[in-house]
Amino acid sequence: MRLDKYISQISDLSRKEVKRILKTGLVTVNEEVCKDPSRHISDADTVCAEGERLEPPCARYFMLHKPAGYVCVTKDKDHPTVLELLDEPNLDKLQIAGRLDIDTTGLVLITDDGKWNHAVTSPKRDCKKTYLVTTLRDIEPETINKFSAGVMLDGEFKPTLPAELEILFANEAKLTISEGKYHQVKRMFAAVGNKVEELHRNQVGEIVLDEDLELGDYRELSADEVSSVKV
Ligand code: URA
Repeated sequence: MRLDKYISQISDLSRKEVKRILKTGLVTVNEEVCKDPSRHISDADTVCAEGERLEPPCARYFMLHKPAGYVCVTKDKDHPTVLELLDEPNLDKLQIAGRLDIDTTGLVLITDDGKWNHAVTSPKRDCKKTYLVTTLRDIEPETINKFSAGVMLDGEFKPTLPAELEILFANEAKLTISEGKYHQVKRMFAAVGNKVEELHRNQVGEIVLDEDLELGDYRELSADEVSSVKV
């Protein structure tokens, strides 16, 4: 990690402010003054400011039970964002690992670990996401095969990757997908002539939404939950 990012992550300082401090010569790396913000810091390096050791930043991982009405972006002028539900320092350093639509509820993962975020969201990493879906019309049994073979979404050139559909009731189902195209689930049901009325995500990879979390609540992920995502 770059030196300016390292210091910024463990303080309330922006990268710009860190660069200004570095110029004063107060920061040492392995006991030598370092003014270079791009200097690479590895686990073996010791960073000090005015002689005090700066402990390496610890990555943060949270699960949130997203209520409807909140958007999964870091800033929005019209709607509250899911980050506003977190009572944590340095909110600007956190990223949302996979977005849900404003009207979708359920599991949202939030982290400041970019590699972990990528492992959750990249379609190449095959991290499965499970949704509970309520539809306007009854779900035709052939939808299971159609989703498993892949359907063409409006405006796309390639069919969706194989998805697993389990019909729970006439108009309720559990759908597991490994991609995260824009409005993917809603567009998949539209592709078979149905319409999603309610959408709730309850699982990402092996991480299941904690039943004890009320809408709007969040908690840190356990070490097992974090390591269940292979980075
Ligand atoms: N697919 C959708 O259509 N919406 C979501 O919020 C998530 C997946």
